[in-house]
Amino acid sequence: MRPLTALAHDALCEVLHGDDRAIDATVGNGHDTLFLASRVAPHGHVIGFDIQPAALTATRSRLTAAGLDANATLLACGHERLGVEIPPDWVGTVAVVMFNLGYLPGGDKGLITRADTTLAALQQALPVLRIGGLISLMVYPGHPGADTEVQVVEDWLAQIGDQCRVTCHASPGPNLYLITRLA
Ligand SMILES: C[S@@+](CC[C@H](N)C(=O)[O-])C[C@H]1O[C@@H](n2cnc3c(N)ncnc32)[C@H](O)[C@@H]1O
Repeated sequence: MRPLTALAHDALCEVLHGDDRAIDATVGNGHDTLFLASRVAPHGHVIGFDIQPAALTATRSRLTAAGLDANATLLACGHERLGVEIPPDWVGTVAVVMFNLGYLPGGDKGLITRADTTLAALQQALPVLRIGGLISLMVYPGHPGADTEVQVVEDWLAQIGDQCRVTCHASPGPNLYLITRLA
């Protein structure tokens, strides 16, 4: 089976094009930010959020090495501030928002995403999307706090109703949810 991370990128490629706007809600080691920046180049832009300075430093280096510095702004703050941190004219225009929850591989496993802030970020991400835009949401079980986060995500998905189409790729590990804004 194709890895869920690759499936997420496949789905994002369908809606993300050069010159688009994108948000990486969990920058981490920057693999997804780099992917998004390379897709929106030359004139598009990515805004990335992470609470770990080390993650942002690693990601900035990755972008610089790829010559994509100008295509991304990295914010040292939580994605629960997404609605106030993005430029007002981005609202309703963003092609994709990526969430890859959990902890930074190789980093501090105490600095995980949390149910309350994840829910706040998801609620703010939906209106930021353009119609036809996509939220890619990877949700991991197994670590402390994961059960609560999974439940909160499932409850949110159950009530977004007619506004969205939700596809779930389940696995014995993480689940990938692809959420398309319809209205
Ligand atoms: C699984 S990693 C992300 C992997 C990343 N997308 C990549 O390509 O390497 C999850 C990241 O979420 C970050 N994180 C935790 N809480 C956060 C929050 N409230 N806002 C933004 N990022 C957060 C962690 O610091 C960690 O770097």
